[in-house]
Amino acid sequence: MDISVEKKKFESLLDAVTTASTAEELELSYLGRNGLINTLLKGMKDLAPEKRKNAGQDINIFKQEVTKLVKEKKDALHQKEEQNISIDVTLPPKDISHGTLHPITLAVEEITSIFNKIGFIRMSYPEVDWEHYAFEVLNMPVTHAARDDFETTFLNGDTDTKLGKMVLTPHTSNGQVREMERLGSKPPIRMINIGKCYRPNWDATHTPMFHQFEGLCVDTDITIANLKGTLDYFVKSYFGPNTEVRLRPHHFQFTEPSFEVDITCTMCKGTALIDGHKCKICKSGWLELGGTGMVHPNVLTAGGIDPSIYSGWAFGFGIERVNMMKYGIDDIRNYYTGDIRFLNLF
Ligand code: FA5
Repeated sequence: MDISVEKKKFESLLDAVTTASTAEELELSYLGRNGLINTLLKGMKDLAPEKRKNAGQDINIFKQEVTKLVKEKKDALHQKEEQNISIDVTLPPKDISHGTLHPITLAVEEITSIFNKIGFIRMSYPEVDWEHYAFEVLNMPVTHAARDDFETTFLNGDTDTKLGKMVLTPHTSNGQVREMERLGSKPPIRMINIGKCYRPNWDATHTPMFHQFEGLCVDTDITIANLKGTLDYFVKSYFGPNTEVRLRPHHFQFTEPSFEVDITCTMCKGTALIDGHKCKICKSGWLELGGTGMVHPNVLTAGGIDPSIYSGWAFGFGIERVNMMKYGIDDIRNYYTGDIRFLNLF
């Protein structure tokens, strides 16, 4: 057995290799199960015993050389082939899925922009606030039902002698007197306060955390006509030009008079009928938007504003609810279950 002949033969075969796949074929023909190295090893049994030891060592050295050289050749050719891969720039791109803004974020942006156009400034007031701002200055005495811990989440902690306990704000109305104070009790005030609110409810129309947007306008000679005009502007901008608004008498501690605001149903367009059947969304042609009214004199006084000189109006609407009305969504919990199929609709 003359290994040096085999070595020479291998070297010339390796020299002739120009592609990674032929390098792999060469590797198989030497190192594979039926390759030359194994054939040489098997042939050792036919050698005279005194030659076997040296032959074994020679074959193993040859095997190590073949392994090393073939690997180097393969690596070099693979690298070269990767560099030469051509790119077809005319191919359509892979479908990459993009994230989107949450529908409530989009609604907040849209509502902010609608009110900015008529001079209202976007504000954000604390979502963890004192009872003083969430209730007391809003003419809601300590005996008011909303101040029960079934209705409002109170935080553990010290009670401030003037400000009371801390609560997760159940509405954005806590921003009313805060805004009056921020402006040094000097109207005009045109605020749109957008924030998170917390109430212990969970069903198709209620979530424990939701968003409200609170309008506040205070100046001389502000009347219900200004309020109605502003609401009309908002609903036509947000829901579409054919949407109508109506005010229904209601009660809030912090407005007098107070109203519920309704708009014509976005699905049946106020007709109460869809394809000759009663509209399942509204049943009456009208949908409830939220609460409003003329700012109560006690609230103006709490904010250091003289109610004999100034008047104002306020409203507070749920953002999830207006969005549901706009897009005909029947379950508010869709916004917060993180179902990508729902979120991708926006
Ligand atoms: C209030 O919160 C008053 N602060 C609104 C107001 C402001 C009246 C200024 C007058 C002047 P009400 O509790 O009705 O009102 O809530 C207003 C809106 O918040 C509701 O119409 C509804 O759209 C939304 N809302 C209330 N609770 C929830 C809830 N758990 N989940 C989702 N939306 C809610």
